Amino acid sequence: MDSLYDMSSDSINKVADEVRACKRCRLSEYRSNAVPGEGANSAKLMFIGEAPGRTEDTLARPFVGSAGRVLDHALARAGIDRASVYITNVVKCRPPMNRRPRKDEIDSCIPYLMREIMLVNPRIICLLGKSAHDALLKGSFREHRSRYVKRNGRIFFTTYHPAYVIYNNKLRGMFVSDIIGIKKMIDAMNE
Ligand code: URA
Ligand code: SF4
Repeated sequence: MDSLYDMSSDSINKVADEVRACKRCRLSEYRSNAVPGEGANSAKLMFIGEAPGRTEDTLARPFVGSAGRVLDHALARAGIDRASVYITNVVKCRPPMNRRPRKDEIDSCIPYLMREIMLVNPRIICLLGKSAHDALLKGSFREHRSRYVKRNGRIFFTTYHPAYVIYNNKLRGMFVSDIIGIKKMIDAMNE
């Protein structure tokens, strides 16, 4: 983000429009649809995933495929309304074969994420998986997992990526309890 960035004239809709037209990296060549973040524009809680998958690429919405079902289930168990949070990804276009986004692709796309964070201004940012963790926090995913870390006046919570827990029931339980823990933290902040 350069210092000429003027937040007062920016908006989530503007970010989304720019994402839809973006050709800043090679991932634009493979996509059916770019996938901007979605949700409440002043959400207290933001989720950040890695990149859109096939269903997301088709529907132009984040976390609406199998990983989305795991996230939705955890939100329901925690009593969090999906419409009350903001959900986005580190890169907004699906990498071919669902490979990990590359460093240069993340570098090209991250200004959109930084704008989303500044505009939504969430109390807690939940990092889903190692890609989101490594894009936002220095240090190791394993050390930060299931913990709160304060950086630059923001609170980050790191947990597994929902797609990663699909075939592992133990991790799935931990994922759900992590999300329940976030809900408790947000409720405590509101008291
Ligand atoms: N996985 C992600 O990281 N993001 C999505 O939007 C869907 C699956
Ligand atoms: Fe643009 Fe991000 Fe899509 Fe690359 S991944 S084309 S930077 S929106």
